[in-house]
Amino acid sequence: MAKNKSEIGLIGLAVMGQNLALNVADHGFRISVYNRTTDTMKKFVAENPNTPGGLVGCETLEDFVASLKRPRKVIILVKAGGATDAVIDGLVPLLQKGDIVIDGGNAKWTDTIRRERDLKAKGLRFIGSGVSGGEEGARFGPSLMPGGDPKAYAFLEPVWNAIAAKVDAKTGRPLGGAEPGKPVEGGVPCCTYIGPDGAGHYVKMVHNGIEYGDMQMICEAYDLMRGVLGMTAPEIGKVFAKWNTGMLDSFLIEITADILQQADPVTGKPFVDVVLDTAGQKGTGKWTSVNALDMGVPAPTVAEAVFSRCLSAVKEERVAASKILTGPKKKFDGNKAAFVKAIHDALYCSKICSYAQGFQLMREAQKEYQWKLDFGAIAQIWRGGCIIRAAFLQKITEAFAAQPDLANLLLDPYFNSTIKKAQANWRKVVAAAVEYGIPAPTFGSALSYYDGYRAARLPANLLQGQRDFFGAHTYERVDQPRGKFFHIDWPEKVRPQIEI
Ligand code: 6PG
Repeated sequence: MAKNKSEIGLIGLAVMGQNLALNVADHGFRISVYNRTTDTMKKFVAENPNTPGGLVGCETLEDFVASLKRPRKVIILVKAGGATDAVIDGLVPLLQKGDIVIDGGNAKWTDTIRRERDLKAKGLRFIGSGVSGGEEGARFGPSLMPGGDPKAYAFLEPVWNAIAAKVDAKTGRPLGGAEPGKPVEGGVPCCTYIGPDGAGHYVKMVHNGIEYGDMQMICEAYDLMRGVLGMTAPEIGKVFAKWNTGMLDSFLIEITADILQQADPVTGKPFVDVVLDTAGQKGTGKWTSVNALDMGVPAPTVAEAVFSRCLSAVKEERVAASKILTGPKKKFDGNKAAFVKAIHDALYCSKICSYAQGFQLMREAQKEYQWKLDFGAIAQIWRGGCIIRAAFLQKITEAFAAQPDLANLLLDPYFNSTIKKAQANWRKVVAAAVEYGIPAPTFGSALSYYDGYRAARLPANLLQGQRDFFGAHTYERVDQPRGKFFHIDWPEKVRPQIEI
């Protein structure tokens, strides 16, 4: 009987669940599927009768659990948060010691830590796995970031490696392309064991924070071409298409080129011109920023990307303010092609800083949570499958291969020399944004991060003076060893300092 049992099971047949189940089945693994609404499951199974591995539709959780090989592997793909807990609560009484629950949603890493601990106490094992790449990725090759008990992951690894996107070992280029129904074989899978408990979901969260930064930077580049140069959406789309053939080659630049050249089916106008300018968000960028603040890691570019979405959301207020508040009315009279090139460089330099911040954040998190993250491997699995996949990630992979303990991406020779060459243009663009009154918060904050990180002396000396003045918060001295604190008995004009 055991040989008819399924290799793995999946609960939650929304778009991501259906696509992931088909990807698993395409790779020859028999997969049981369960959905709260049985009709959805029946329709899905009926529509996909001939997959290589086979789909086994189950109407009850009991049948679903009974249909799985032991140790059972159950993937949950439902809305992150309470829904995940509800599914786990229903599932746990039916499972047996050693069975493995895999959460493939965008869970908060602290929830994953809690769930892993709770399930462990019940003799069960829990894997929290980041799954990136949207519908298309889930179907034909996502980037996978699994975390949890490594012994449990060993059971999942063959399936995860098989379904993940593949890249060329040397160039890091995605292999094959998404040809419907044809799994991509060979190459390096965009999947690696990240670390214990919440490590996988943490890394997925940082991926999403970086995704927020990339998206906002692209929007700023578009806004500058529109606002300063008066270019139309299709014209800007063509610029992005050209950029996609160079060092900015990436999924997000590619889809931006397509979106900008898309016509609205109703009016025939450029599609983006009829889309309301208020951005949604589900929270992963906010979690990244809040965590950066909690750990005291400077990650201003991701935070600016989140705040930009927040500012976009107050549409009515902005429309009212636009009738009251004034700004410059400058006309561009420079070299258009040179300015477009400068925007390209500003985008690339800002992107380097944003990724530098993301990797700094993971470095700090691994200390906080006692993980041992392999940054080179993380950059590698982001080369294909995921939303931030980009040729650029090959450079990050190479940077960490050359120096696994690299303190900051900016210090890698390639990134350092790239910024050296491009920074004049970057500064020009940030200055132009200010002069023309066009908001470019991620470009500007990335540049301030760069200038701050390379500054041997920042004005925090004065800040410490202020803190000591009003709150006796003490200060350290440049001529004394670190860790020795002093205080002046303010507000007397000149008083001798008192050593604390
Ligand atoms: C991915 C995406 C995916 C999702 C984001 C979008 O890696 O496949 O990041 O997880 O598209 O959650 O998040 P927002 O709705 O917050 O933009």
